[in-house]
Amino acid sequence: MHLGSLTLPTDLILAPLMDVTTPSFRQLIYDLGGVGMVVTPMLFVPQFVAAPKTILPHLERMEKQRPFSLQIVASGRNPDQIRTTLDYLSAYKFDVLDINAGCPAPHTMKSGGGGGLLKEYHMKGSMERLRTVIETCVKYAHTPVSLKTRLGYLHETEILDLLPLINDSGLDFLTLHGRTIKQKYSGEANYSMIRTVQEKLSIPLVANGDVKDYHSYQRIKSETQCDAVMIGRAIMFDPAVFSRIQGAKLAIEQGKEPISAPSFHSLDEIRSYLIQIEQYIGESSKFWNTERFKLAEFRRLAIWLIKGIPGYKKVRAILSKINDFGHLRDYVFGDQISADFARGQELSDDSN
Ligand SMILES: Cc1cc2nc3c(=O)[nH]c(=O)nc-3n(C[C@H](O)[C@H](O)[C@H](O)COP(=O)(O)O)c2cc1C
Repeated sequence: MHLGSLTLPTDLILAPLMDVTTPSFRQLIYDLGGVGMVVTPMLFVPQFVAAPKTILPHLERMEKQRPFSLQIVASGRNPDQIRTTLDYLSAYKFDVLDINAGCPAPHTMKSGGGGGLLKEYHMKGSMERLRTVIETCVKYAHTPVSLKTRLGYLHETEILDLLPLINDSGLDFLTLHGRTIKQKYSGEANYSMIRTVQEKLSIPLVANGDVKDYHSYQRIKSETQCDAVMIGRAIMFDPAVFSRIQGAKLAIEQGKEPISAPSFHSLDEIRSYLIQIEQYIGESSKFWNTERFKLAEFRRLAIWLIKGIPGYKKVRAILSKINDFGHLRDYVFGDQISADFARGQELSDDSN
């Protein structure tokens, strides 16, 4: 499929998720198939300028995960910093430069970038900083440039005021999450507002918010008429969500019933994901390949993946207390974990 000048293998994009979509986790998702493009979690321009070496580990595996989009956060107060960052990045091969204009996290807002760019419009009626960020990126990036934003800071209609800027400043596409900054993750993504934007937009649209399976993918596509769909939080439970959706599309094309996503994973499946993650971390630079990171990545993924298995709450409590990677590994691949699921199930049955 085409997104502006880009050709993507599918219309499914992996969302940037800070501290979640690490290079190793991205690789797992990528290798499971179905992903049209991956996006790095946000990388802060001032950090690029002050200490670029601390940013480079986040770009690991870039060449193995194409098409690859690199997301930056900039406040627009210092366009020279954006230019320096883009000069630095010109030595690297990636496919899209994405501007974060929607993150509600306090440290991002405080930096003036991310959702801070929408706040400026809401508070002062000014889109100058947003304009500076977009125009500087479009002028100096060596790749297509996209903008990822939300419907507004406080009101869902604020995005409509920004559309002339978005349409006319040389952006290649827009990614729109159907919530406001103030909403954070509460309520439901507003697909009908995304559709209103789509009708007035002259560049391609990626719709985002609450997609977790084929059914919700279909819904966002038909209700927003978007060109592509971005999926974030769902990958924490189902790293194979992209290949599942692609599989469902194929089944439907062939007149078959799509296989629905499982409500929980088998222990064998979970173990196979963890073995892959361990392998990718083993191949990583010293920055990632530490006991501390391995423990955090492995434990976090194990805790997400076991969700829904009968008795998982007991196992989750045990996993969260193990503070040594070797012990964690022994536990996940040993016999005790099955006994603990069974015990957890008995306990939850008792409490019914
Ligand atoms: C833990 C976490 C980290 C996130 N980090 C980023 C980020 O670095 N950049 C960004 O633009 N959005 C970030 N987001 C927002 C997601 O990319 C996405 O827009 C949002 O989760 C809605 O999509 P979903 O309903 O499919 O999860 C993050 C969200 C979560 C939950």
